[in-house]
Amino acid sequence: MKAPVIAIDGPSASGKGTIAKRVASALGCHYLESGALYRLVALIALRQELMEETSIATAAAGMDVYFQGDEIFLEDQEVSLHIRNEDVGKRASEVARMPEVRKALLERQRAYRQPPGLVADGRDMATVVFPDAELKIFLTASPEVRAQRRYKQLIEKGIAANLAALSRDLAERDARDANRAVAPLVPAPDSQVLDSSALSVEAVADRILESWKSIGGHG
Ligand code: DC
Repeated sequence: MKAPVIAIDGPSASGKGTIAKRVASALGCHYLESGALYRLVALIALRQELMEETSIATAAAGMDVYFQGDEIFLEDQEVSLHIRNEDVGKRASEVARMPEVRKALLERQRAYRQPPGLVADGRDMATVVFPDAELKIFLTASPEVRAQRRYKQLIEKGIAANLAALSRDLAERDARDANRAVAPLVPAPDSQVLDSSALSVEAVADRILESWKSIGGHG
């Protein structure tokens, strides 16, 4: 029997990473941040100046990546902070439009589905990667709240940021993610849509944990 999955999708800076990590830790489950995989591919594409879809997809299929808590390693080099850079985020949303790249990452993402269960966050967790997920959440927040959250996140990490530029970039990225031909950012028909604009992290995580219990999930 396959391990259960909680899929949490949503736009940039909707808080899905923080929430997903919290839910995974409360349930003692594994956690997959799929956006980090796209960011890693973007980092490689930027560093190696790869432009062609096929060469980027080849790099995505072959990249040597491992996650250790909050630390992310690429070819044994720690890149946790590098991939949070806004340039990398922008390139990530460009490489994420490429069908060959998405295909190259598909099985890698599914491999994280291990007992006792997985909480996975991204854009297409509920629609493409884990369409049979036991619980599907689509997490949103207003554009203003999301820009503020991303700003705070970057400043806390010591990365320089500008709120107006961030809002503009977020809007552009949302449009690209939502309008692309493959795996666009949309809620699955069976997703629960949750607006976190006026809710604390704890409140959102608690709602998800309640939903999980109500369908008979463990924890
Ligand atoms: O969640 P994030 O902002 O770190 O994601 C970076 C980019 O990767 C984002 O622009 C969209 C893309 N992405 C995707 O297309 N599919 C996913 N499952 C996760 C991220």
